[in-house]
Amino acid sequence: MLDFKVKSIIKDCVPVLRERGVELTENFYDLMFTNNPEVRPLFDEDRQKSGKQAKALAASLLAVAQNIDDLEKILPTVKKIGESHVKAKVLPEHYPIVGKNLLLAIKKTLGDAATDDVINAFSEVYTYISKIFIDVEKELYNNL
Ligand code: HEM
Repeated sequence: MLDFKVKSIIKDCVPVLRERGVELTENFYDLMFTNNPEVRPLFDEDRQKSGKQAKALAASLLAVAQNIDDLEKILPTVKKIGESHVKAKVLPEHYPIVGKNLLLAIKKTLGDAATDDVINAFSEVYTYISKIFIDVEKELYNNL
């Protein structure tokens, strides 16, 4: 479970995620494709170039932060995203790669505002959410 402190830090990040979320996710993709070029082939090049992918990820990060007290609410969205992931052949071992580069992107985008507490909060939430995604996707793979 996510504790009160983590939830409170994430709630404080809602405005910055609303205002600078796309900048953050653009930084994220640049970092991930540089640090982990092996995942690049999973992504659709046109969606990437058009910026759709960065916008979709920014919207889902904002949705997580806004619903941090009641993540059940975003379960239907997680299931839809899970279907896209299964089509793209996303696997459990890809999650730590995304997690690592997401934290690097948060540091790069927020600079000094990305304190250890902020980074730890995002790390905890990411681990928590990844488990939900991995479970949903496991079920979808089993039903293929
Ligand atoms: C908790 C972590 C993650 C979140 C919140 C997330 C979010 C999203 C969202 C919102 C979409 C768009 C879905 C749609 O429009 O139908 C998407 C698609 C996609 N995601 Fe994720 N994702 C996560 C983890 C991952 C991981 C670990 C990978 C693998 C490296 C990945 C690779 C993809 C790919 C390949 C697509 C398909 C879109 C394309 O081809 O450009 N995602 N994800």
